[in-house]
Amino acid sequence: MIKLPKWDQTLINKYNVSGPRYTSYPTALSLSEGYQQQDLVSAIKSSSSRSLSLYIHIPFCSELCYYCGCNKVITRHQSKADVYLDYLTKEIAAHAPLFKHYTVEQLHLGGGTPTFLTVKQMTRLINLLEQHFHFTRNTERGIEIDPRSLAKDMLIHLRVLGFNRVSFGIQDFNDEVQQAVNRTQQVDTVKALITQARELGFKSINADMIYGLPKQTPQSFEKTIAQLIALSPDRVSVFNYAHLPERFAAQRKIKEADLPSAHDKLTMFKNTLAQMTFAGYQFIGMDHFAKADNELAVAQNKGQLHRNFQGYTTHGNCDLLGLGVSSISQIGTTILQNQKVLKHYYHEIETQAGSAIHKGMHLTHDDVIRAEAIKSLICQFELDTHAFAKKHSIHFNEYFADALLALKPLIDDDMVHINDKVIRVTPRGNLFIRIICMCFDAHLQKQISKTRFSRVI
Ligand SMILES: C[S@@+](CC[C@H](N)C(=O)[O-])C[C@H]1O[C@@H](n2cnc3c(N)ncnc32)[C@H](O)[C@@H]1O
Ligand code: SF4
Repeated sequence: MIKLPKWDQTLINKYNVSGPRYTSYPTALSLSEGYQQQDLVSAIKSSSSRSLSLYIHIPFCSELCYYCGCNKVITRHQSKADVYLDYLTKEIAAHAPLFKHYTVEQLHLGGGTPTFLTVKQMTRLINLLEQHFHFTRNTERGIEIDPRSLAKDMLIHLRVLGFNRVSFGIQDFNDEVQQAVNRTQQVDTVKALITQARELGFKSINADMIYGLPKQTPQSFEKTIAQLIALSPDRVSVFNYAHLPERFAAQRKIKEADLPSAHDKLTMFKNTLAQMTFAGYQFIGMDHFAKADNELAVAQNKGQLHRNFQGYTTHGNCDLLGLGVSSISQIGTTILQNQKVLKHYYHEIETQAGSAIHKGMHLTHDDVIRAEAIKSLICQFELDTHAFAKKHSIHFNEYFADALLALKPLIDDDMVHINDKVIRVTPRGNLFIRIICMCFDAHLQKQISKTRFSRVI
């Protein structure tokens, strides 16, 4: 069982800097242009996995939330989704035959807002996927849902289409906060949907929250989290609001003066940690909580948790195929990404025989080794250096001399314990897991000059 993070203000003042979220290592910032379908073909040939995790990106939303940093297209025109499905059909026809020998363990629809699709469009998409990929009765099928715009009976249809996991975007229940971000939704609407999802037999119900939004105060957010806990979701993501107005035009609509102070933001996360853990949720890491009997907590306690482009997952053995605009795939040691802008995605599908792969990278042997070390730390809060060295035929202390040097101040501050067998993150350190992983990141220096990461807390 992962120990509760220990809140230490001195450490927070010292280490609350920005850092990657490590949904992959190397991060997507290391991808470069010039990749195409042939790279997918070669990646599949050299991968040993026969299990597939499918991610489908549906970019449309009917209204703009001002905080949003996702890849989305705001439109009221339902017909745009028909056009999108036409292109997805071409992409699936081009890629699916390459995965004939794979079984789909997991399907996830993300966005944007996948439930922007009508029941008819959703049925078309699922039929299409089932015609082209090998699903089983046990395939985990999840979908992101915006509770404000869910068509009547959509949950029933999703269940009929085999979905068994749902994730609701909630963010905040306070009226003033909701108005400041242009996203109004009532607690009762969410409550009714969660109740219905449970009655329908959805196995895992996730809620997305954000702290650091305009007009939020520690008091208002404490109330929001209390209201959330009363709804008893199985898993909760409490994201740190990443305010990057230079990158996301929508965020320029947010008044800087309305944003909570750094101190208040920290208090919100501190209170959230206390409320969630008091309510019996396990702190999985970074921004994630799960009930003790949820598959994520169970996997973590067994040392079997993984992390991929969708965050924490129990499907670590799978290759990941991303379809749709901006989607990322990881097949064996190759990462590939589709065109990020919708018109470019369409153009590529038309001109490149159904493939919109645009960027990518092949992991080096060193990348693979570091990725495994980072994954172990971020998922289990420890790394068995003895077994790791044996597995990779390396002398751990020599190979990672740079990382161990970078870890020294964190060891001195009692955030990491280290002996000749294991590196273990302490309860004082687990809030700073991103900083700890950064010590193992050989690409970081190049990237820091190129981008701004979000703050750790
Ligand atoms: C694709 S949306 C979820 C589905 C649906 N579109 C919705 O909003 O309900 C993914 C999640 O990313 C989070 N998110 C979006 N922009 C963010 C930002 N700038 N900082 C932190 N989290 C953000 C929100 O919690 C959101 O629910
Ligand atoms: S938060 Fe969700 S609904 Fe809002 S704009 Fe972003 S993707 Fe769309």
